[in-house]
Amino acid sequence: MLVLAAVLLAPPATSAQSFSPSIPKFWNDPQVESFEVPLANPRYSPRHMNSAEYYALKVRPIYKTYPVYAPGREPAGYREHLKTLEPEVIFDPARLRSEADWIAAGQLVFDSEPLLFPAPEKDVFFPTPLPPNADGTLPFFVPGARYIIRKKGVLEIGINACAGCHTRVMPDGSYLRGAQGVFDFPATEERLERARKRTPESLRAYQERSWILYGAPWVEPKESYFARLTKEVALQHLAVSRQGVLPRQGTSEFAPPHIPSLIGLRDRKFLDATGFARHRDIGDLARYAITNQGLDTLAHFGDFQPSAKATAFSSEIGTRYSDEQLYALALYIYSLQPPPNPNQPSTLSRRGEKIFLQQGCAGCHPAPLYTNNKLTPAKGFTVPEEMKRSSDVLNVSVGTDPTLALTTRRGTGFYKVPSLRGLWYRNALGHGGWVDTLEEWLDPARLKPEFVPKNRSAPRGAVPGHEFGLKLSADDRAALIAFLKTL
Ligand code: HEC
Ligand code: HEC
Repeated sequence: MLVLAAVLLAPPATSAQSFSPSIPKFWNDPQVESFEVPLANPRYSPRHMNSAEYYALKVRPIYKTYPVYAPGREPAGYREHLKTLEPEVIFDPARLRSEADWIAAGQLVFDSEPLLFPAPEKDVFFPTPLPPNADGTLPFFVPGARYIIRKKGVLEIGINACAGCHTRVMPDGSYLRGAQGVFDFPATEERLERARKRTPESLRAYQERSWILYGAPWVEPKESYFARLTKEVALQHLAVSRQGVLPRQGTSEFAPPHIPSLIGLRDRKFLDATGFARHRDIGDLARYAITNQGLDTLAHFGDFQPSAKATAFSSEIGTRYSDEQLYALALYIYSLQPPPNPNQPSTLSRRGEKIFLQQGCAGCHPAPLYTNNKLTPAKGFTVPEEMKRSSDVLNVSVGTDPTLALTTRRGTGFYKVPSLRGLWYRNALGHGGWVDTLEEWLDPARLKPEFVPKNRSAPRGAVPGHEFGLKLSADDRAALIAFLKTL
């Protein structure tokens, strides 16, 4: 009664847009069972915990967080001061009145950090690819981090928020949340040296972690995976790491995907490079967030469970999002807008648009979304009969590296056709982020084994497949690129 009275007495200022969504239980069995596309070998498609088990978990409150400073930049007494503060829960659905309130609350969910560590007494330094902000605070995204106070007097460090991976640093230094991420663990000399010095025990520990994150025993048994993941190979993976490409759990150390932009997500029918999760409605996005923030490593793939007791990421085992938090998060993601495009249409770009049509690009990347939202089979994948009849499937392969689609826990056998919108502020093109520019994407030299992409110290060999537009003259290629940059 009291709550109702408070609502009735609330000032009418925002009542014109008053917004009281009816939020379903997102983790309900029929939707959970149907939201993921079967794996290339459907016998091993994940089976998740059921609705009753899920709702028995405790809701994870979202606490106020505080910046971490670069070494030597922290104001005197800062951490002591933080220890005097009370914990503050900042997500409270009872206080949300308008749609704008819900979206703002969704940003809190996007920014909050579920993976917690005890804060060390000494200066912490997470190697970020970026310098500290002018005031000495570290960028909020991973591997930067935030202090969290869940209990007065106890400081913890939180990482792995959505914002940690899904934030871009724009050329002017500003942060753009939701745009393709710049997450990076740069291969510093110190990290390389540590990797070179690995002992058999520490190599073994590394392999075990890798197995929880990426193991797929129906494709390759553990022993053979470990034999392949030698010290030298692990070192090589470190050396070729680059901004915006990250082996998310369930993908592969050997074929890590790029971090996609979330701007424009509402119009996408499939999520992930392999189209692993359907996006039929807001509920699928909520379920995607649930699985990706830890529930997926607890799933069963046939008789294989990557981790029985702990999710790969969340130290907060036994907790979950609330449906209100997820609803707000999804509304926030849907609200993300692209920045104004400085590349306005020109004579050159209009010529490029004609080339785009002549080359047949629009067959797969038609306006206005510049994707037909379909799945294309990876090289070597035989499309199952029942999928052939689906209007979501295009029966032609573009021939890119099939590793991610055929050999991983997100591997459906397909790659989705990505949208070409916003290419002007992206890098890491192709699902593996093999090249950083459209010039390289459209350069036939990338098909050769000796190809060395820019921004990369070590060659990684040919970037095969998607040979569309590779035979253009230099002038036509420049025009096509000018067009693509206007999207
Ligand atoms: C550790 C880094 C990391 C974190 C944290 C992270 N993501 Fe992602 N995200 C990725 C990567 C990498 C992919 C690409 C996966 C693939 O293609 O298989 C991805 C893909 C996605 C996609 C699919 C988009 C598309 O168009 O295919 C969505 C949606 C998404 N993330 C939302 C979220 C949300 C919401 C959160 C927080 C709850 C989150 N992510 C946290 C790295 C991250
Ligand atoms: C038969 C369908 C098809 C045609 C035709 C096609 N594409 Fe694609 N395109 C794809 C698929 C599928 C991918 C993703 C492949 C992957 O990552 O493995 C893709 C990826 C891309 C990318 C990388 C986008 C990103 O987000 O990383 C660009 C750029 C691109 N295409 C441009 C073009 C241009 C320009 C043309 C015409 C010259 C063209 N495409 C023709 C299906 C097609």
